[in-house]
Parts: sequence; C-alpha cells; structure tokens
Amino acid sequence: MHLVLAGPGRIGAALVPGLQAQGHTVTLLTRQDYGDFLAPAYDPGPAVARVAACDALLLLAGRFELNAPEEVMGQANATGPLRIAEAVHARFPQAQIIAFLDSRIRRPRSSVPPAVRAYLASKQRLARWVLAAARTWGQTTGARVNAIAPGPVFPPPEKAHSEPGGPCLTPRPTVADLLSGVTFLLSTPSVTGQILYIAAGQQLL
Ligand SMILES: NC(=O)c1ccc[n+]([C@@H]2O[C@H](COP(=O)([O-])OP(=O)(O)OC[C@H]3O[C@@H](n4cnc5c(N)ncnc54)[C@H](OP(=O)(O)O)[C@@H]3O)[C@@H](O)[C@H]2O)c1
Repeated sequence: MHLVLAGPGRIGAALVPGLQAQGHTVTLLTRQDYGDFLAPAYDPGPAVARVAACDALLLLAGRFELNAPEEVMGQANATGPLRIAEAVHARFPQAQIIAFLDSRIRRPRSSVPPAVRAYLASKQRLARWVLAAARTWGQTTGARVNAIAPGPVFPPPEKAHSEPGGPCLTPRPTVADLLSGVTFLLSTPSVTGQILYIAAGQQLL
C-alpha cells in the first residue's frame, strides 16, 4: 500500500521501518518540505497535489502544549489535521484515514489536569470528526476512517504530567503496539469509525 504520514514526528519516524518491512511505500509530509500545515491560513491543496498515490493517510500531526489557549489547540489538533484529511480525501476518495488522538479523551474533564484540558478538548473534537467522516465517507466513497488513541508512548515534556502505569497491561504502550494497531486497521476492511485505545488501559483511570 502507499501510505502517507502527515506530520510524522517521533511516533511516525518510529513506525516507518516496520511499515516498510511490511512492504508498504511510505511518503512523509513534513513541515520542512510542505510548510506549516497546521497554521490557520494554510491551504493543504498544493501539498496534497504533490502526492502521487495514497491508499491510507496516517494523521499524526499535532501539538501538545500545557496551559495553551483552546483556539490554539483546536487549530493544531483538530482544524489543521482534519483539513489535511479532507484535502487527501478530495484527491484520493477511497484512501483510508487513521487519526492519532490521545487515550485521555475518555476521561471526564474534571479528572484531567487543568493544564492539558485545552489539548484534550481539541483531540475530542478530532475524535468526533473521525466518527462523522466515517459515517459520511463510508456512504459516499467507502473510505474508512479510524483512530488510534495512544497512551504515553513517549514521556511528556514535564515530569508533573507523567502518567502512572496502566492498570491492566504493561506499564507503558510501545511503538510496536502502535504498529500492531495500524496494521490491524489497514488490513481489516470491515472496520470503520473505530477508536482503538493503545494505552495499557490508561483510558480507564
Ligand atoms: N507521543 C506520545 O506518547 C503520544 C501520546 C498520546 C497521543 N499522541 C499523539 O500522537 C501523535 C504523534 O505523536 P508524536 O509524539 O510523534 O508527536 P510529535 O513528535 O510532537 O510530532 C508532531 C508532528 O506534528 C508536526 N507539527 C507540529 N506543529 C506543526 C505545525 N504548526 N505545522 C506543521 N506540522 C506541525 C511536527 O512537526 P515538527 O517535527 O516540524 O515540529 C511533528 O511532525 C500526535 O497527534 C500526538 O498528539 C502521542
């Protein structure tokens, strides 16, 4: 398959060798090559026009920031990524989408630290979009839209926001776990509108 990774970052870079080993061709949409594509004024059309083929888009781009204004997080983690997905869908109507959320979207607002509420609200907005797009595009072009909600694969920038170990499985989800999730979503034609929590159960805390 031809896979496009938008905003690969740490997780995308770590996934690439495993995806290539499965025989996939990987195109990276990086900020360096394609510009600041999460910015409000950015038009993703020209960047997507340069992409020759796409069977699946991994929407990894996002920004984690403590105490950030809601509109800043909303642009970086919801509006920006979904505009990339819509531009990819316009050019490759059957391409499946896998968005990257955060396992803490399941928690009630009152149980997450205030410093990360705007970030999580933006990921919740992206999660609602995933479900809506899965419903709409499933009926129009058959494109599947799913998401992975990772737990803390990499440590957060501030120690105060470190998570305790998961209650159910291993202490920390790994890149190998994420690769398994991506592989499952890529290869299972009946799955759409699914949010896969790969978080060692931390969404249950
Ligand atoms: N890492 C974790 O443990 C974890 C946990 C839960 C959820 N997630 C989610 O999983 C996804 C990938 O995580 P990650 O740790 O790999 O993220 P990351 O290392 O922070 O990478 C984020 C990507 O987004 C790009 N980006 C940020 N701001 C941008 C902008 N204004 N314009 C264009 N590109 C921009 C970055 O580009 P630059 O490299 O140029 O800055 C980078 O490619 C994210 O959506 C994250 O929220 C991650």
